[in-house]
Formats: sequence, structure tokens, C-alpha cells
Amino acid sequence: MSSEPASPSFVPAEYEWLLLRFEADRQSRAPGLLAMAQEHTARRAPVRILDLGAGSGSNLLYLAPRLPASTQEWTLIDRDAALVRRVETSFAAMAPVVSGMELGAGELRERDRAVRYRLEIGDFLRGDGGVFEQAWDLVVANAVFDLLSAEQVARFFDLAVESWQRDRPAMYFTINLDHEFAIEPGAAHDDAVRALFHGHMQRQQGFGRGLGPDSAQAMARIAGQRGLRVHGAPSPWRIGADQPAMLHANLDFVDHAVHEMLAQPDLAQDRARAGSLSVEELDGWLGERRAQIDRGELTLSVGHQDLWITWPEPPGPAAS
Ligand SMILES: C[S@@+](CC[C@H](N)C(=O)[O-])C[C@H]1O[C@@H](n2cnc3c(N)ncnc32)[C@H](O)[C@@H]1O
Repeated sequence: MSSEPASPSFVPAEYEWLLLRFEADRQSRAPGLLAMAQEHTARRAPVRILDLGAGSGSNLLYLAPRLPASTQEWTLIDRDAALVRRVETSFAAMAPVVSGMELGAGELRERDRAVRYRLEIGDFLRGDGGVFEQAWDLVVANAVFDLLSAEQVARFFDLAVESWQRDRPAMYFTINLDHEFAIEPGAAHDDAVRALFHGHMQRQQGFGRGLGPDSAQAMARIAGQRGLRVHGAPSPWRIGADQPAMLHANLDFVDHAVHEMLAQPDLAQDRARAGSLSVEELDGWLGERRAQIDRGELTLSVGHQDLWITWPEPPGPAAS
């Protein structure tokens, strides 16, 4: 989406960041798991889809034109009311460009395809929007579960198994962060910066420790313990030197997170877990990395995993 030069001080607002990452996510999703989602929805119409942590609607914009069902009924839930209120703006701006669909009232249309959507503001872990009371064919979430703690993921799968066992929706959870954060060319302090960046995601917060780069492994384990079947496949971002806005945005996140790790007294315990680096070393590292982006010399790989989660076969009739 972006091959325009970006200023080194480019700091995307949450909404702008979600639009920016749309293109990186689009290029990264594992094709084999997308094929499973297409196969799963092929003979269903209408197909009922729940999008958890939907943000400004990127998952729908990506998936709706790629799923074969001609009638799709989407429910989008996010706890960030400001993002949910911008869904229509995002659809109006992006749908024709990225999906060939046109915006109608509560609906996107493309020739013989009708995609109706409903917006919910709320916390899906609390069951807001009746997410655990309704029937779904497919439950999706893009770039959401790495923000949660292991306890929250366990709670989610407990509720899912308890509530959805009759309709048994497949779950397609994409772009979950893993440990790769590889900058080319390599430089001194890369390992320390990466460890502190990941340590910031996993710092102690009100809800526990975010899973961050351990998310896909933890999700697979937790879902598997509840009898669900999990397929995983890598979906890394490969951000080229021709995408300076995306590169600068990633550096801005590193800048903010690692400075906070180094400065906040209450993060001393997390800092000790993650490794040592001085503020001067961090500033020198950031300055050189930003200069390399501006010279078109830097590329970045950020690892992720996509997961396709299904239910065990129901027991067959008892042999007599
Ligand atoms: C990185 S954004 C991804 C947004 C969108 N799925 C996309 O691909 O652009 C993560 C989103 O998850 C939402 N989120 C995280 N935990 C949530 C929860 N428990 N209930 C509802 N939304 C949640 C956040 O508000 C945020 O909008």
C-alpha cells in the first residue's frame, strides 16, 4: 500500500497503523490455511462469520472477496469504540481499492456477492455482543491473540468449547507474533533491542503478561488441551527497503517500547529478564537504523504464525 517516502518522525495513529499493516498482512497470510477457510465456507450460504478484535475492519476487507460464499453475514467486535466508529470510513476508502466491493448501508456489494456486516463495541472475552450465545460457521481474528495473556487465551477456549460445540465453527486466527525480528544488515545491539522489545510486550500488566511472540505456541497448546485440532503455518512479514513507512512505523514501536523498558522503575524486573542496553546505545542504534531506512538500505522480517483450529470428529455410532 505504501511505497512513498516517509519522514523519520512518522508515528502512525492506531487507525493509520491498521491501514498500513493491511498490505503487510495481506502478503503474509499462509496460503494453505486460507485454502482451508475457503473450503470450509464453500457450500454454506449465508455463511456466518464472527471477527474478534476487528479494529477498523481489515479482516473483512481481506477475507470477504476471497471466500466463495455469495452471501456472508459478518459480526465485527472490538472494545475500541473509536476504531469501530471508523469502520465505515475505512470501508468507503478501502473496499473499492483492495476488494473491488462497493459500500452500501450495512453492506458491501460486488457483482453477485453480498456481504452484510454488524458492528459491536465490547470485550469478546466477556461475551459482549452475545458472541458466545450465537451460532457461527467461522470465527476469525487477525493480530489479536498476541495481545492477550495465557490466562485470557485459556478462558477464551474454555468459553468457545462450552458455547460453540453444537455449531462447531472453524477458527482462523492469523498473524500471531512469533520470535523472529530480523533486521538486515545486522548490527551491534540487535539482540538486546529485540529482547527488550519482546520483553515490553510480555511485561506485567493489569491483565497479566501478554503472550507477544509466544502466542501461537501457547494458543496451539491451550486449544489442543481442550481437544481442538490445530494446524499452524508461518506468515512472516518481509518488509522491503521500498516500504519506508512500514519500516519507520516498526522502528517507532521499538523506540517507544524499549525507551519505556529502560526508563520505568516498575519495569526493572522485566528489564532484568530481557537483557541490558543503555539509553545512549539505544538512541545510537535507532539513529543509524532510521538513516539506513532513508537510504533504502534496510529490510525487516517479523515472524508470525497463522492457525486453523477445528473440532474433533464427533464419535461415530456405537458398534453393536
Ligand atoms: C492489532 S489490532 C488488529 C485489528 C484488526 N484485526 C486488524 O487486523 O487490523 C488488535 C485489536 O484487538 C482489539 N482487542 C484486543 N483484545 C480485545 C478484547 N478482549 N475484546 C475486543 N477487542 C479486543 C484491540 O482493541 C485492537 O483493535
